[in-house]
Amino acid sequence: MKRIYLDYAATTPIDKRVVKVMLPYFEENFGNTMSLHSFGQEAKFALEQSRQILADLINAEPNEIIFTGSATESNNLALKGIAFANELKGNHIIISAIEHPCIIESAKWLAKQGFEITKLPVDKYGLVNPEDVKKAITPKTILVSIMHASNEIGTIEPIDEIGKICRQKGVYFHTDAVQSFGKIPIDVKKMNIDLLTASSHKMYGPKGVALLYIRNGVKIEPILHGGGQENGLRSSTVNVPAIVGFAKAAEICKKEMSREALRLSKLRDKLIKSVLKIKGSHLNGHPKNRLPNNANFRFEFVEGESLIMRLDLEGIACSTGSACSSIKLEPSHVLTAIGLRPEEAHGSLRVSLGRFTSEKEINQLIKVLPGIVEKIRSISPFKK
Ligand SMILES: Cc1ncc(COP(=O)(O)O)c(C=O)c1O
Repeated sequence: MKRIYLDYAATTPIDKRVVKVMLPYFEENFGNTMSLHSFGQEAKFALEQSRQILADLINAEPNEIIFTGSATESNNLALKGIAFANELKGNHIIISAIEHPCIIESAKWLAKQGFEITKLPVDKYGLVNPEDVKKAITPKTILVSIMHASNEIGTIEPIDEIGKICRQKGVYFHTDAVQSFGKIPIDVKKMNIDLLTASSHKMYGPKGVALLYIRNGVKIEPILHGGGQENGLRSSTVNVPAIVGFAKAAEICKKEMSREALRLSKLRDKLIKSVLKIKGSHLNGHPKNRLPNNANFRFEFVEGESLIMRLDLEGIACSTGSACSSIKLEPSHVLTAIGLRPEEAHGSLRVSLGRFTSEKEINQLIKVLPGIVEKIRSISPFKK
């Protein structure tokens, strides 16, 4: 049986074109970017070229990009780095209720260190209201961190409006753009973004590399201290093969973005239209303002985990929510934040499409899903 992968929000397969450009950096061009000899200088050249390509994708300057090991690390650095560098100005940070756990847990940790955290609610579609951001900002606020697009329900947040408010109020604005980077256009200048997180393995690049965009002039403290790489903000020997791959992945995404967004949104809409014909099914997230590759459903009297297991037996890989929360038994904090009761939140299915998703694969999901939902429902103890 040929397996069907529909969990691109968890991670993506690496594009063959990306692997190809990475290979020389494992073998002949293996130098350390800090070395003065030609091996080092070749590695340094590749590093700076990659920085330029990634900066171009979001209209940033190359010196505003620093490489890290993961989006989790970038988000930790954004929150903790801004908090500790700006303590004298204030101790208040604003996030939303639907952020990824690496933002929520970093904020919780900062609260233990004496920082004050405001967690903004979202509406039934998962949207943050920019007016709520405005009202929550106090003279002590130093940072607002709102994700660009939800990894679970795909809702795209009004970050340009939020960015404008933050800039007017003189507060730094960070956005976690892990799910949107390379999929929809981002312009850090136009959107008034001060810090932005993106990750390679969500866009057909290798795992183990991510970036943090930090606008020139933003005050930030490192959390790793050592040899002073990445402008002193992320000491560690630089992972050149992964960074070269990340840049190639970004180059491909930039070239193919508009065509791919159109192709995927057509497939997504076909899927949504068909699935909503199933009795007792609902769409989670915004009906229009969502990522081109995300569909998230809820089925009454159906347990999400059972659905995933049965789909897996049919060779189809989907998810109940984020990959991190799918092993927890607690309902997703994102689904409860949009107002779902825990039992409703447990009946969710995230289908995330990507570069290698074909119409045939979507048709196969559409074919098997109604029967699976019916079967699980027929044995549900909650069904009247
Ligand atoms: C929106 C968002 N932020 C951050 C992360 C963390 O990425 P990683 O686990 O690769 O560090 C993810 C991963 O799912 C994500 O979707």
